[in-house]
Amino acid sequence: MQHLHGKHIVLGLTGGVACYKSAQLCRLLTKAGATVQVIMTEAAAQFITPVTMQALSGRAVFTSQWDARPDNNMAHINLSRQADAIVIAPCSADFAAKLAQGRADELLSLLCLARPYGKPLLLAPAMNREMWAHPATQRNFAQAAQDGAQVLDVGQGEQACGETGDGRMLEPEELLQDIAASFVPKRLAGRSVLITAGPTFEALDPVRGITNHSSGKMGFAIAAAARAAGAAVTLVAGPVHQPTPRGVQRVNVQSAQDMLQAVQAHLAPADIFIATAAVADWRPAHYAMQKIKKDGSGDLPSLAFVENPDILATVAATERAKNGQLYCVGFAAESENLLANASAKRLRKGVPLLVGNIGPATFGQDDNSLLLIDGQGSHALPRASKISLGHALVAEIARRLPTEAAN
Ligand code: C5P
Repeated sequence: MQHLHGKHIVLGLTGGVACYKSAQLCRLLTKAGATVQVIMTEAAAQFITPVTMQALSGRAVFTSQWDARPDNNMAHINLSRQADAIVIAPCSADFAAKLAQGRADELLSLLCLARPYGKPLLLAPAMNREMWAHPATQRNFAQAAQDGAQVLDVGQGEQACGETGDGRMLEPEELLQDIAASFVPKRLAGRSVLITAGPTFEALDPVRGITNHSSGKMGFAIAAAARAAGAAVTLVAGPVHQPTPRGVQRVNVQSAQDMLQAVQAHLAPADIFIATAAVADWRPAHYAMQKIKKDGSGDLPSLAFVENPDILATVAATERAKNGQLYCVGFAAESENLLANASAKRLRKGVPLLVGNIGPATFGQDDNSLLLIDGQGSHALPRASKISLGHALVAEIARRLPTEAAN
C-alpha cells in the first residue's frame, strides 16, 4: 500500500447501513499510512456516530458547513484543497443524485462541488438492489462519472434489507485496494497483460506428483501492479494460496501442459506476456490411475519422465512476439552467477527482457531483489517488498514498450 503512504484522504459518509464498513476502511487507510479526515452527512450519523469515526481517524469529524472551527469559516474550501483524494463511502442514491445535479446544500456535496478541477473523487455506491438498478440512479452515477468522478464497483450478495442482488458496498479491503490503485500512474492504460505465476504440479498418481518451490507472490504482485497501472490483466496461476488481485481475471491450472493451453487461449489480446511461473521441467511419462502402492518387497517404483513444453520460449517464438507486437518478459531463479546465467537465459528464451532473482533468497518471502537484463545491459532493483517491486517492474516494462504499440 505504498501509494497510500502520506496521502490525505477526505472520507465522506452518506446515509446507509454500509457506514459500519467505513469504520474499518478508515482504520485500514490509517494503517496504510494515510491521514483521514471524515465528513458525515446528517443521514450517515443515523447509522454510525461521529465519535467512532473521530476515534478511528484521530481527527474531529465535520458534519456541517456551518462548523465555526475553521478560522475562515470555509470548511468546504479548506477540506477539499487539503485532500489528495475524496472518497465517498458509502455513496447513497440520494447523494449521487445531488452530485449529478451539482447541488450543495450540506457540507459533503458542497465540498465535492468546490473541489479543484482534477482532484480525485471516488464513489463507492451502497444501496438496495432495486435502487441501484433504477434508471435514475444509473443515470446519476453515469453523470457523476462524466463529470470526473470514479465510480467504484458494487458488490453482489445478501443485503441488509433481506434481498439479494447488486448494490452492496465493496468490502473495506477491496475499497482500500481501489483507493490505492487510484494513485498509480496509468502507464499501461489500454494494454492487455498476460501473466503466469506459481508452480505447476505434475501428477504421478491421484495422490502424488512433482512440483517446484513457488508461492506465486511475485507474479501476483506484478498482476496487481499491472492492473493498478490500467491494464486488463489475465493471470494464469498454478496451485497457490494467494488471493486474486482486484480486477484481475484468474485462470487456475495444475500442470505445465494446462498452463500452456490456458496461455495460448488468452494470448490473442495480450500486448505483454510476463512468465513468472516456476514451471516443472519434467512430468511423469505415465500417470497411474490408482495410487502406486508399496508392495512390501522393498522394490522401488520405476519412474520415467518426459520434458514439459517451455511456455515462455513457445510464446516468444510466435509471430506476434517476433514482430514486436507482444512484449515478452521472462524470469530466472538462479542460485549463483545471476548476471551471467540470466543473460544467457534471455538469449536462449528469445525475450527482450529477463528478470533475474536469487531463488533461495526469495522463495515464499514477501520481499525480493531483481536484476533486469535487456539488450542494453542490466539494471538492479534493490531489495524491497514484492508489491513495490511489482510496481517498479511495471514502470520498467512500460518504458521499454515499442511506442507504436502505445497507440
Ligand atoms: O528455463 P527456466 O525454467 O530457468 O526459465 C525460467 C523462465 O522460463 C521463467 O520465466 C519461467 O516462467 C519460464 N518457463 C516456462 N516454461 C517452462 C519453463 C520455464 O514458461 N517449461
